[in-house]
Amino acid sequence: MNTSQSAAHHAESSQYLAMGVSSGMRTYVTSPPLFFERADGPYYFDVDGNKLLDHTLAWGPLILGSNHPQLNEAVIEALQKSYTLGAQHPGEIALAKRMTEVVPGVEQVIFSNTGTEAIQTTLRLARTQTGRTKFIKFEGHYHGWANNVLLSYHATDEEAGNLEAPNVAPSMGGQPASEYTEAIVLPWNRLDLLEQTFEKHGNEIAAVFTEPLLANSGSIEPKEGFLQGLVDLCKKHGAISVFDEVITGFRLALGGAREFFGVIPDVSVYAKALAGGFSLSAVAARKEFFDVLRDGSTIHAGTYNGNTICLAAGKATLDILSADPDNHSRMHLHGLQLRKTIEEAAQNKGLPLCTSGAGTVFNAHFGTETPPTHYREYAQVDMDTYTKFRAHMLDNGVQLLPDGRWYVGLAHTPTELEIAQEAIHKSFQLL
Ligand SMILES: Cc1ncc(COP(=O)(O)O)c(C=O)c1O
Repeated sequence: MNTSQSAAHHAESSQYLAMGVSSGMRTYVTSPPLFFERADGPYYFDVDGNKLLDHTLAWGPLILGSNHPQLNEAVIEALQKSYTLGAQHPGEIALAKRMTEVVPGVEQVIFSNTGTEAIQTTLRLARTQTGRTKFIKFEGHYHGWANNVLLSYHATDEEAGNLEAPNVAPSMGGQPASEYTEAIVLPWNRLDLLEQTFEKHGNEIAAVFTEPLLANSGSIEPKEGFLQGLVDLCKKHGAISVFDEVITGFRLALGGAREFFGVIPDVSVYAKALAGGFSLSAVAARKEFFDVLRDGSTIHAGTYNGNTICLAAGKATLDILSADPDNHSRMHLHGLQLRKTIEEAAQNKGLPLCTSGAGTVFNAHFGTETPPTHYREYAQVDMDTYTKFRAHMLDNGVQLLPDGRWYVGLAHTPTELEIAQEAIHKSFQLL
């Protein structure tokens, strides 16, 4: 694939933009990083004139694809009325109400702009409500880039230490230990260890954070009973259970992981697919969770919170997703067909491979026929072969994320399935 114009853009951007890209995660996607002119439906168009079928969905948000007429219309209408008000407007009521209708067990929400912020707000509210400071997170789970939670994300074996009593491993420079002394890290899918930790630290733990499907490390599925067990243990010990649904929200089902897995935590956090590509996040829970805001015990703030344009995008996205009750099953089927194609192509080539995930977000794991059950198993998959496969896919016109993850959205039709299937077959031949 010709990437000469992207390379030239990257050389220039590196002069003015600190990393040449705007998010650290994007440094590792392709070399050179691709620069794009525009996106339309499920396709991206780069500055070299390449048209790429997209299965990155911008790392998750583009559940409707790009340039969706109904979403455009809603945003343009909002734009003509205001940019942002820094004040109240009916759009806030409309989206908050719609969220309570589609997400089981949600009575109220608060809005912010990114997943990182909404996680921090949740932690603050949980601490205020419980009067406790510690929290539990799991290895390989990503809850945003803030110092107090970017811990044991993709730690090496040495950094991570003993599986049953892991170290709390910082992920980057500028992360002093004083900012994460309150974190307890555990391997995921191990209810026994969670129970033991509660027995030891029960009355110190404010909250337990989990991605309900471990999308950030291999799209690992929760073991039968794990999520409900986690919620029950939190209830028993007076801690707040939090599903980080930044990826799973409105994606696994309209009601996200709560609906898909049939488990209701105390709180869910949403972003990404919530507004189809616009910057919006939300904390959602029963009314009581927000008592600490109403009684003034703590605050939730932000200049752009509830801004008119992103709220209009959120309402339109949920309207479009819910307009046809078959939308999610269609997307899921598309994902399953892709998985089947990848698995069959690997089998034909004699390569060990398996897939894991749920419908619209899944991973292909080279080098193993057993799906990982927690981060350290995912860390063992053959990423070198995946990287080669991904490069062949790109040469065949399909762009994928670097970590083995695939996203499927509403803009992927049977035509895109055929294109992707052909690229998969060709790429396996080239391996
Ligand atoms: C599960 C999860 N939580 C939180 C975040 C942080 O969201 P944001 O990048 O909008 O700050 C992400 C981002 O990828 C995520 O995947």
